[in-house]
Amino acid sequence: MRYLFCLLFIPFFSCSVANKTFTASEIKLLPKPEEITLGEASFLVKNGKHISFENEDQKQTASYLVKLLEAKTGNQLSLVESGRADIQFKTDETLEDEAYTLLVTPDNITIKSNSRAGAFYAVQTLNQLLSEDNNVNQNQSKWLVPSIEINDAPRFKWRAYMLDEARYFHGEDFVKQMLDQMAALKMNVFHWHLVDDAGWRIEIKKYPLLTEVGAFRTDSEIGTWKSGKTSGEPHGGFYTQEQIKDIVAYAAERNIKIVPEFEMPGHSSAAIAAYTWLGTADIDIDVPVKFGRHYDNYDVTKPETIQFVKDVLLELFDLFPSDVIHIGGDEVPYEVWEKSPRVQKYMAEHGIKTPADLQIDFVNKISLFMQDHGRRMMGWNEIMGKKLHFDFEEKKDDEEAETELAKNVIVHFWKGDINLLTEAASKGYGIVNSWHKFTYLDYKYKGTPLEKAYRFNPIPDGLDEKYHKNVYGLGCQMWSEWTPTNKDVEFQTFPRIAAYAEVGWTTLENKDFESFKLALAEIKKGWDLLGINSYKIE
Ligand code: ACM
Repeated sequence: MRYLFCLLFIPFFSCSVANKTFTASEIKLLPKPEEITLGEASFLVKNGKHISFENEDQKQTASYLVKLLEAKTGNQLSLVESGRADIQFKTDETLEDEAYTLLVTPDNITIKSNSRAGAFYAVQTLNQLLSEDNNVNQNQSKWLVPSIEINDAPRFKWRAYMLDEARYFHGEDFVKQMLDQMAALKMNVFHWHLVDDAGWRIEIKKYPLLTEVGAFRTDSEIGTWKSGKTSGEPHGGFYTQEQIKDIVAYAAERNIKIVPEFEMPGHSSAAIAAYTWLGTADIDIDVPVKFGRHYDNYDVTKPETIQFVKDVLLELFDLFPSDVIHIGGDEVPYEVWEKSPRVQKYMAEHGIKTPADLQIDFVNKISLFMQDHGRRMMGWNEIMGKKLHFDFEEKKDDEEAETELAKNVIVHFWKGDINLLTEAASKGYGIVNSWHKFTYLDYKYKGTPLEKAYRFNPIPDGLDEKYHKNVYGLGCQMWSEWTPTNKDVEFQTFPRIAAYAEVGWTTLENKDFESFKLALAEIKKGWDLLGINSYKIE
């Protein structure tokens, strides 16, 4: 009836039903949803339409949708508490966290979810479905959403992007741009590498020298490892606690948890440059100009160092609501501890046999502290005490630890035999898979092309199905040693980040590289409009 009405009165009325029927090839969604059923005709986005909600979380998402629609289509929609609305947010208690259903008919749109995240992701999908129809009357809105039913939920609960701020400080605007892009791709963890040898990037009130000294260096190595070249330019920057709070809130609005990384006990030169007593050498140093693994460690046998770590963590707990805090733990130069009489004496007195055991002993202590404060530790997979590095100079016979890592620590797998992951998952550890061969964004496209990134499976072959749930998901890592500018970082990140987003969200059965590339071409148009420097789609 309604369609007939429209057909008859088109010359006189601005009809509110859009008749365009979309074909399956026009539906380009990234990451690809679990189930899609395409219907006939489409919903027309118009000024004055109403959006309803059932609770405060949905109200916030509905407001986000109002802003999004205004910015993209120029139409102003308004929120209503209840009653008949054209777009309705509803609660469905049968849905999992982050899941949603989206039902679009020519008359209305219904979004069902059981969490703020689910509603938010439905809006992201809606945004990707919106398209401009150029065949309508000049005076009419041209923005259509195809009639469609989508039932969707993520494959993994951990879908992370890591940004290394330590080597180069990227700044608030860049971080927010990344958070926007992550949200559009339904990624939910921003792993923020804020501390390393080359820089300390977060204000800590109790230890002001961390940023006064540790956030600045006089020069930077450039090009590649051992290039022998430097830029000759001083570099520096850090986030104040006020800025951190603002960024954390910005991320939360986008369903993104920020997991800060406070590296310990290695990669700690910026902190040791600020406070010499944190190290083993008792020698004043500058924040290093050369990247890599050449420096002192925290002296974890000193009570003052342990207190420092706890004090910093307490400030991090106040700033970051995340249940998980990352402690790095990678590439600890054990020879530093082997050469330190103070550390050796402590190890002998406490029956600690190897530096790897000392690291786990320390990590377990800090993990307990975190647990007492309702947080959970995460660290790179060196913290399990297995030998991963065959090119470093520690004694060859004593690298593997006997001490067992605390069971609630999340192991962030990046290096070594994949059986190490399988073994850890079978022992019950929670795992995030960031195997460097597949997920390192600093690697060149020649070695890690888009298709290789896309084909990454966080669940390794041979892992018994009963342990699959221990693999929480994946991370992709933007290490920044050789990407001094934000444009360089964009080039390495885009478009591979979209491949990792789909790895994290889409079931194996639904993944298809060719259709992914078609959807990616649409997403890239948005990146181009924003001036994001992305690499070509291969
Ligand atoms: C790492 O790439 N060192 C975790």
